[in-house]
Amino acid sequence: MDKILTAQLDIPPDVIDFGAGQPSLHLLPLALLREAAASRLADSNAAYLAYGAIQGDGYFRQVLADYLAAHYQMQVDYDSLFVTGGASQGLDLICTLFSRPGDTIFVEEPSYFLALRIFADHRLNIVSLPMDDQGLIVEAVEHELSQHTPAFLYTIPTFHNPTSVTLAAERRNRLVQLSQQHDLVIVADEVYHLLSYAAAPPPPLASHIDLSPIISLGSFSKIMAPGLRLGWIQAGTKLMDRIAGCGLVDSGGSLNHFTSGVMRSAIELGLLDKQLANLKSVYSRRKNALSNALRELLPDSVRFVEPDGGFFIWLEFEDRIDTDKLLAAARQHKVGFLPGIKFSGQNGLKSDARLSFAYFDVPELEEGARRLVNAIREYQK
Ligand SMILES: Cc1ncc(COP(=O)(O)O)c(C=O)c1O
Repeated sequence: MDKILTAQLDIPPDVIDFGAGQPSLHLLPLALLREAAASRLADSNAAYLAYGAIQGDGYFRQVLADYLAAHYQMQVDYDSLFVTGGASQGLDLICTLFSRPGDTIFVEEPSYFLALRIFADHRLNIVSLPMDDQGLIVEAVEHELSQHTPAFLYTIPTFHNPTSVTLAAERRNRLVQLSQQHDLVIVADEVYHLLSYAAAPPPPLASHIDLSPIISLGSFSKIMAPGLRLGWIQAGTKLMDRIAGCGLVDSGGSLNHFTSGVMRSAIELGLLDKQLANLKSVYSRRKNALSNALRELLPDSVRFVEPDGGFFIWLEFEDRIDTDKLLAAARQHKVGFLPGIKFSGQNGLKSDARLSFAYFDVPELEEGARRLVNAIREYQK
């Protein structure tokens, strides 16, 4: 009989898999959510067990709007928020509503590999746009706009997955201008925005929704727990009318109503802030440990930039190294990572690799770095 699974990930205990881009089980806030759920269930009003209001519970959206306003340091109107079952579902819904099979979309190279899977489900054609250490190269967007009329541009502007790069403030402004000039819908996946370990990043693209066709995706997966399947879309009135008018919510109501009630309590009781502070301190320590180990152990020919937030370190090897093949050697050493090719919309990035520091604690991260370096040595022989 196949093994019966509860969680998506199933890493053997002797393997250190840097491919796991999610929190370890002991970082998930069981006690805290028990408290939030008990508080919600103590409510004598059963409305959280009814079909939820179309855009999501108004009280939850008010609490979320205040939370985001405080953390994004800008005004957030609760009417600009739409409850989703996580950023992945939000993205899938946006594809359904704003594109048709065969349409072209603009995507960063590299991009979040599972977003590429969602785009493939919708039969979308990818035009890949280059990035550098300041994020998406906006001139490339401008150039491609002279060749194509994309259904939308998908970008991860802050603590990008997989590179961890953050789009520079001036580039954000230029991108927003382009979006206005060309009526270009920008889908900004901002799920890592609140996970900063150094100075705060520039304001999210969500700060421009009133004047530009920008749709921002947020999620509790990175700041609370992915199993909640709870997130939000933030958009201006015109786009929001289209999103809130979809058949999916007309039939089922709010996309994750009961959980949004639990999260309302978690925010009201200060538990989300507590969890976010804990995660930032744990991830920051893990990021430092992995960066230091890699700096010390990796050959000088492997390049990486220490991230200021998010979950990932992106390694760039010399061209002659194929990280898909290196992975086979790494597996022999009981270490894993995700090869760059997974993040490419054009079958490239063959000499790159993504490591995550979210899942393992400091001693395992250091041991994993040693194993990885041994695997590289063996591969280079
Ligand atoms: C850029 C990005 N978007 C979306 C997701 C998935 O978010 P959710 O769990 O809210 O569906 C991830 C998770 O790794 C991610 O890195």
